[in-house]
Amino acid sequence: MAKYNKILVTGGAGFIGTNFVRYVVANQPDVHVVVLDKLTYAGNADNLKDLPTERVQLVVGDINDKQLVDQLVQKTQAIVHFAAESHNDKALHDPSIFMQTNLMGTFTLIEAARKYHVRFHHVSTDEVYGDLPLRPTLPKFDKFTTSSQYRPSSPYSATKAGADLLVRAWVRSFDLQATISNTSNNYGPYQHIEKFIPRQITNVLSGIRPKLYGNGQNVRDWIHVWDHVAGIWAILEHGEIGATYLLGANKELNNLTVLQLILQNMGQDRCDFDFVADRPGHDLRYAIDATKAQQELNWQPQYTDFTAGLQQTVRWYQNHQSWWQADKTAVEANYAKHEQ
Ligand code: NAD
Ligand code: DAU
Repeated sequence: MAKYNKILVTGGAGFIGTNFVRYVVANQPDVHVVVLDKLTYAGNADNLKDLPTERVQLVVGDINDKQLVDQLVQKTQAIVHFAAESHNDKALHDPSIFMQTNLMGTFTLIEAARKYHVRFHHVSTDEVYGDLPLRPTLPKFDKFTTSSQYRPSSPYSATKAGADLLVRAWVRSFDLQATISNTSNNYGPYQHIEKFIPRQITNVLSGIRPKLYGNGQNVRDWIHVWDHVAGIWAILEHGEIGATYLLGANKELNNLTVLQLILQNMGQDRCDFDFVADRPGHDLRYAIDATKAQQELNWQPQYTDFTAGLQQTVRWYQNHQSWWQADKTAVEANYAKHEQ
């Protein structure tokens, strides 16, 4: 029996939200899900269309719509908050919508959760901790932990950090029944093709040369999205109110290595890509210490074979060309404005 039978999932038509809703439908037979999603360019109603309508209802709307949020929150027992503007490159060119959605949207939701005494889980990122040196010289800076300092370095991560701090303040000041998770880079099915791994896979499938920023040495700590969503469910059920959990799968790889694995997997030459201009302020390295989540939640990442996960992801984009093809030209045209 699940602790919460009626949950509201914001951003449930995006990448991680979709995988979370599909996880709940598959594993929690007594849980009903209402998805609140604005269906921005990153959301896709089709992601949920094969799910049983008696289990999942999609409400198209904005988390900033106070009246709608109030209406939905009073009918739910828990909120899992994914909705956000999530792309760093986009925030560098136009940060304003990030302020609106990530900060003000979170504010609207926690006010409603407080008013109706509803459990709240806030989905956040490891980027709130800034970056780590590529070759750590001091062991204490080796990985992010729940006591790492907040020092976001990009417009996207600053808005996520601000939202985390709002949630923390609402816990302390208003006894909001909330938890937070900060997770590293996700990969897997349904990720928007603006993001690194699906962009390169769909580039190869479209006859476009993959694009690597800077020298390709920046490191990301990859977690399969199915491990992330299982961790979020574990926090919702067993997390300590007020606590923060870091979710990661110990898979630090530099971007060049990931790209060459993709190329190898897709039968391409490992040099068949272009180096392009670096991202301004590009964070060097992220790394998660997930010990606390593993010890307290009995959660362990299962999909830890990155090569196998990448192969599955490549197959997914090969087999779902109609899911991404219509967006490809516009995504690449947008990148072309900024890359040389
Ligand atoms: P995404 O961009 O794929 O999806 C975001 C979803 O939110 C979309 O469906 C979009 O339509 C919806 N949305 C945007 N603005 C909205 C609004 N104002 N009202 C209602 N819905 C709105 O993002 P994602 O990669 O699935 O990330 C989900 C969450 O997880 C975000 O909060 C992100 O910061 C966090 N996160 C992502 C990663 C990652 O690697 N992708 C890692 C850690 C944390
Ligand atoms: O760490 C968690 C974060 O991971 C999440 O909070 C964000 O929502 C999510 O988008 C992701 O942020 P990144 O900026 O790390 O992801 P992105 O896929 O944009 O880029 C991954 C790395 O690949 C990064 O070092 C930049 C690089 N890159 C990206 C693109 C799109 C390239 O080299 N070439 C590219 O074409």
